Amino acid sequence: MKFNKQVAIITGGGSGIGRERSLKFAQEGTKVVVADYNEVTGLETVEMIRTAGGEAAFKQVDVGDFKQVEEVVEFAASTYGCLDVIFNNAGTGAGSPLLEHTPEIYRRVTRINQDGFYYGILAVARKMQELGNGGTIINTASVMAYMANAVPSATMPLRQQSS
Ligand SMILES: NC(=O)c1ccc[n+]([C@@H]2O[C@H](COP(=O)([O-])OP(=O)(O)OC[C@H]3O[C@@H](n4cnc5c(N)ncnc54)[C@H](O)[C@@H]3O)[C@@H](O)[C@H]2O)c1
Repeated sequence: MKFNKQVAIITGGGSGIGRERSLKFAQEGTKVVVADYNEVTGLETVEMIRTAGGEAAFKQVDVGDFKQVEEVVEFAASTYGCLDVIFNNAGTGAGSPLLEHTPEIYRRVTRINQDGFYYGILAVARKMQELGNGGTIINTASVMAYMANAVPSATMPLRQQSS
């Protein structure tokens, strides 16, 4: 998929998949709004893009807060004059085996991984309708949507993953 000369918001752009996609989008000519909770790593991604000759800006956001997500959308549209793509990618894990979870851990994870994606879709779809140019909404998913595990995959031996 090519996003040449477009404007994209990438949430979680300060690390991992979000950083890698931010660099790739920018390499293809997209103006990228790196939106992340972590200001230090988000600004690092912006610097990496600019050093490589691309265009990017950072906006701090907690994707679990709808107002902040709306502010990111306004920031992107006002900074670059349009908005073509949101890549909802910011996410987190419980960080502990299922039987050690608490309702607080569950709320923290679903606030980011569920509410955050919904807020990104809603805020951007409204802005795209207002702007009248259509657009693309991309959401990072996980194979964990199709399987159940008692422990986080990062700590799980491979033989248990495949059984
Ligand atoms: N890495 C994997 O193996 C894997 C597998 C399946 C799904 N995923 C999903 O892919 C996405 C990215 O994963 P990753 O491995 O690159 O993770 P990562 O931890 O490297 O990056 C996640 C980024 O999201 C940011 N973030 C966390 N909470 C936030 C919040 N409330 N608001 C804004 N930003 C926030 C973090 O600061 C970080 O920069 C996540 O949604 C994750 O669930 C990853």
